[in-house]
Amino acid sequence: MAPVTTPQDITAAVKASFAAVPDARLRYVMERLVEHLHAFTVEVRLSQQEWAAGIDFLTRTGHMCTPERQEFILLSDTMGVSMLVDLLENEGATEATESTVLGPFYVPGSPWRPMGSSIVEQAGSGEPARVSGTVREPGGTPIGDAVIDVWQNAANGKYAVQDSGQPPENLRGRFRTGPDGRFSFWSVRPTDYCIPGDGPVGRMLASTGRHPWRPAHLHLIVSAPGHVRVTTHLFDGESPYLDSDTVFAVKGSLVCHFDRHEASEPGAAATSTGPWYSLEHDLVLPPALP
Ligand code: BEZ
Ligand code: FE
Repeated sequence: MAPVTTPQDITAAVKASFAAVPDARLRYVMERLVEHLHAFTVEVRLSQQEWAAGIDFLTRTGHMCTPERQEFILLSDTMGVSMLVDLLENEGATEATESTVLGPFYVPGSPWRPMGSSIVEQAGSGEPARVSGTVREPGGTPIGDAVIDVWQNAANGKYAVQDSGQPPENLRGRFRTGPDGRFSFWSVRPTDYCIPGDGPVGRMLASTGRHPWRPAHLHLIVSAPGHVRVTTHLFDGESPYLDSDTVFAVKGSLVCHFDRHEASEPGAAATSTGPWYSLEHDLVLPPALP
C-alpha cells in the first residue's frame, strides 16, 4: 500500500481496506460510511480539539447507557436518525396505522391484563382516560388474537422504568383481542414531558438552544398472527408540542382527540371522582406478505 499523503489518499486507502469484505451489503455500507465520514471531516475542517470533544461526547454517551437507560437511542432520536430510518422503511401511505419511534423506555414483558382493565397501578398518575377501538385490517375485517403492548409516562413526566417512586409495572400492560378485534383499557390522559436532560444528549440540546419536550402520547406495539406488526404512538391533539417534537416523531395520522366527560357521565372509571377522558381509535394492520 502506498503511503497516504493527502486527504483524498486516506479516504481511498480506508475504502480499499474494506474491498475484500465478502458480504456485499456490509462492504457497501462500510465504504459509504467512510466516504461520508471523511467528507464531513473535510467539509467542516474538523480541528483536533473538536475531534477530541466529539470522542469525549461519544464516550460519555456510552458510559450513560445501562439496561434501563439507552443514551445512544436518545442521540439517534434527537438527531432525527431514528425517524429517518422509520420513514425509509415505511414509505407509502396506506390505510394502515403508521409507525413511529420506539423510544428508549420500552421494557419487554409487561403484565398481561384482562381486556377493559386498567394499567394504572399508582394513584396520582394522571387524569383517567379510557382508550378503545378495534384492531382490524384496512378493509375493516376485525383481527382476533392481536396483542397490544402499551406503555406511557405518568403525570410527573416519567415512565416507571425511569422512576423508582412508581411501581415497575405502572402504566404498562399487554392486552389480547377476542374475535371481534375490540380493545379497551383504562389509563391516564398523556401529558407532555421532557426527554432526560441529565446526560450528554440533554447537554447537547441545552447548548444548542433546543427544547427537550415531547408532545403527550401513549406508546403501542400492535401485533397479530399473519399481520404486519406496528410500533407507534397515539398523540394528544391538544399538545402544544406537536409541531416541535424534539425527536421529530409526529405523523398527522397519529394525532388523536380525547373526549372530556363529567364524573357523572356513565362509563366513568370505578376509582375516579373527577372528569375523565375517552379516546376511540382503530389500530389497522395489513396482512403480512406470504
Ligand atoms: C419516548 O417517547 O418515550 C421517547 C422517544 C424518543 C426519545 C425519548 C423518549
Ligand atoms: Fe414516550
